[in-house]
Amino acid sequence: EHFIFLGPPGVGKGTQAQVLCRLLGLPHVSTGDMLRASVSSGTALGQRAKAVMESGQLVGDDLIIGLVAERLGMADARNGVVFDGFPRTMAQAQALDDLLAQRGARVRAIIHIDLPTEEIVERLSGRRVCVQCGAIYHVKYQPSRVEGVCDLCGGRLVQRDDDQPEVILKRLEVYAAETAPLVAYYGSRPSYHRVTGEGDAEAVTSRILAALGIRA
Ligand code: AP5
Ligand code: ZN
Repeated sequence: EHFIFLGPPGVGKGTQAQVLCRLLGLPHVSTGDMLRASVSSGTALGQRAKAVMESGQLVGDDLIIGLVAERLGMADARNGVVFDGFPRTMAQAQALDDLLAQRGARVRAIIHIDLPTEEIVERLSGRRVCVQCGAIYHVKYQPSRVEGVCDLCGGRLVQRDDDQPEVILKRLEVYAAETAPLVAYYGSRPSYHRVTGEGDAEAVTSRILAALGIRA
């Protein structure tokens, strides 16, 4: 049973995906995290992806679909995964449907989180992430106990390269052009749920669990 988080950058997909993964014991499959790991380990793939990500554009479909196909083949993905930031184009959505059909698997839920643009910009501008474990913080809304240090693992907190104002606007533009059409692709399925990302993270989690019929 697979879960998909859909929605513009900065609405809280990663934050909520981490919570759902912990609750259900499923692996978190964030194509953004996978790409950033390749960039920091300097692989050939990372070298290709780095400039594209820094500009706010999307990495090519073939590369992303290959990454996801490989990830779904791993043993821990057998009972399902929580996708975050994938699929992001029509080609990726169709490829995912094919990959799941081949495995006799299905999408249990598509969770579409929405938020007004001003709030998105505010959330992304203050975001900090742990270099070591990927935990997500916000200087104002989700501060760590000690400034600059991860509560969970003691790792250093940094700002993402693509959380600069011009790149944030570019990512929103790319979302509208490339990813927003997926709302029509998934919107008529009974497994599609739209929730607002407003309010604090706990409020959003409660909304999502209620929509999915899961008791925390
Ligand atoms: P990716 O890493 O997927 O970034 P994104 O989609 O832009 O999403 P974000 O991670 O920015 O936001 P989020 O919704 O997860 O928000 P978060 O929970 O962190 O992609 C990066 C790049 O990689 C792309 O631009 C592209 O180049 C490439 N890429 C990745 N996947 C690809 C694909 N499939 N195809 C092609 N290219 C791909 O929260 C944001 C902030 O808000 C945090 O500070 C958080 O603490 C705070 N926050 C969260 N919830 C709340 C709340 N309720 N109240 C207050 N603050 C909150
Ligand atoms: Zn950490």
